Amino acid sequence: METVVSGIRSTGKLHLGNYYGAVSNFVKMQNEYNCFFFIADYHSLTTHPTPQDLHGNIKQVLVEYLAAGLDPEKTTLYIQSDVPEIAELYLYMNMNAYVGELERSASFKDKIRSNPDNVNAGLLTYPVLMAADILIHQATKVPVGKDQEQHLEMSRTFGNRFNHLYKTDYFKEPFAFNYANELIKIPGLDGKGKMGKSEGEMNAVYLSDSPEIIRKKVMRAVTDAGPTKDNQTKPQEIQNLFDLMKVVSSTDTLIHFDELYNKCQIRYGDFKKALAEDMIIATQPIREKIEDISKDSKLLRQVAKHGAIKARESASKTIKEVREIIGFKSF
Ligand code: TYM
Repeated sequence: METVVSGIRSTGKLHLGNYYGAVSNFVKMQNEYNCFFFIADYHSLTTHPTPQDLHGNIKQVLVEYLAAGLDPEKTTLYIQSDVPEIAELYLYMNMNAYVGELERSASFKDKIRSNPDNVNAGLLTYPVLMAADILIHQATKVPVGKDQEQHLEMSRTFGNRFNHLYKTDYFKEPFAFNYANELIKIPGLDGKGKMGKSEGEMNAVYLSDSPEIIRKKVMRAVTDAGPTKDNQTKPQEIQNLFDLMKVVSSTDTLIHFDELYNKCQIRYGDFKKALAEDMIIATQPIREKIEDISKDSKLLRQVAKHGAIKARESASKTIKEVREIIGFKSF
């Protein structure tokens, strides 16, 4: 059975981008593969959270994983920092990653631009830690959104370099995965880029948002003055709303509004109302569970403990073998 690994940083509530790009795939994959899903808390240290915030955010992701349908009996669900073997593999993998290529990574360049005062070494080697996350369980499939594609390519490069250096075929190549066969990028509501945690509270719809908040956010989403006869290609901000509709609404609804758009008869108020209601319906089963699960400390403790044991079993096997390949053998 193929092995699957993926994770989400502990930086706050999950939004529709996290859900459709990653978690909805996790929920399906747990029935078909040997899955390891985790909370990437080491990764979230790059932005220096306070201990209280970090702890709260780790809990938030764990709660939302469970609310979204991850089943700790079917999958190994764990917190990254509970598995110190990952940090050890990260150290080894750093020897196979060149500073020049890390500096050229799109996400690193982005970070330099958006936060020039905090260009720390952890940000530079972020893709190496990601490779360690994946290679520690010898995964071949990694369900992620489009923004992680380059990181997957780098994971393959580092694993292959290790193989080449030690003349082995130990590490398999991991590939990004999505059931739709195409990695997706869920747009935000600001009419510009992707939905993200750092793009402002109003840009993202969170799984935990109440129906009132979802309505408010969607109704405020950027639109234009309306289609004209010579403006048949949708402008970016409108295309984004159609892209969101594609994931939360039925095909009939999508076709209906698309036809209205093409006939220049669309009323954006109605269009956004329909989109908001479908988002509310899509997130409802998850939203309803979030509150109850977050109160169940016993369950959360049990899940994290059980997950850490299973993840360490797999990780320590890899580390033992990697140590031997490298030449760290007992006398
Ligand atoms: P993070 O925490 O930024 O995002 C978690 C997952 O959500 C996806 N995602 C999106 N997908 C589509 N549209 C969007 N607007 C959108 N926003 C976020 C991301 O692609 C990701 O799959 N580096 C990773 C965490 C990580 C990881 C790993 C993932 C650490 N180690 C090993 C896979 C394997 C990250 O920052 O994700």
